[in-house]
Amino acid sequence: MRQKIIVGNWKMHGTLADAHSYVKTLLPYLQSIEGKRVLLAVPFTALSRMAEWCSGSSVELGVQNIFDQEKGPFTGEISAFMAQDAGARFTLIGHSERRKIFHETDEWIHRKVVRALSCLQPIVCVGETLEERDTGKANEVIRKQIIGALHGLSMQEACRIILAYEPVWAIGTGMNATAEIANAMHKHCRSVIWELFSEEVSNKVHILYGGSVKPDNMESFVHQESIDGVLVGGASLDPSQFIQMIRHI
Ligand code: 13P
Repeated sequence: MRQKIIVGNWKMHGTLADAHSYVKTLLPYLQSIEGKRVLLAVPFTALSRMAEWCSGSSVELGVQNIFDQEKGPFTGEISAFMAQDAGARFTLIGHSERRKIFHETDEWIHRKVVRALSCLQPIVCVGETLEERDTGKANEVIRKQIIGALHGLSMQEACRIILAYEPVWAIGTGMNATAEIANAMHKHCRSVIWELFSEEVSNKVHILYGGSVKPDNMESFVHQESIDGVLVGGASLDPSQFIQMIRHI
């Protein structure tokens, strides 16, 4: 049995005051939660204070991106090691907003995955556009993204990856995939991981669904056998909605 995971991705939202009031609502609730992982991908600016406020709680903090080098003349970038030093335990990699806006390629994402594995758990995001889905290319696109990101990893490294299937057309649109589409795509992701590594690895890797997940639709996803949890954007910004979703995972 794979453990259920819920990840909140705050994206570019929140002052320190917002973050502080969020944890004051969330943490008391988490004391009664067992057997599920609750992760928050926060802005870099909030990370070290969040790490202080969340210390001793079960919430795991992470970042939304890292650079692919350890240090050096890379103005404006943050390394995996720096993120870890500030309190991160995981990083999102290859989110569709980064692929689209910052032109991140599969090759670049691969380098980030390799770098992250030295000190953080990578959550690798994959997803097809509406055009790719409508033209029957979704499976092929996802296969290419997974192989591009994960090729060459050892079996042990591959087992530490969390994969997030986030169809681009469902992100921030209110147009979530049906639970059946999501489950079918998750099974496809597992078959690609099997092809790349082994059946054992494909059974161990956690795969999350993301894209317009809300308290009122999340149960349909987490009841699917191949879906191990959710990656939530907009609805994770409100701690009471996030708590409702933790409850149902
Ligand atoms: P929404 O939940 O706002 O659609 O965002 C999903 C997402 O991009 C999480 O990484």
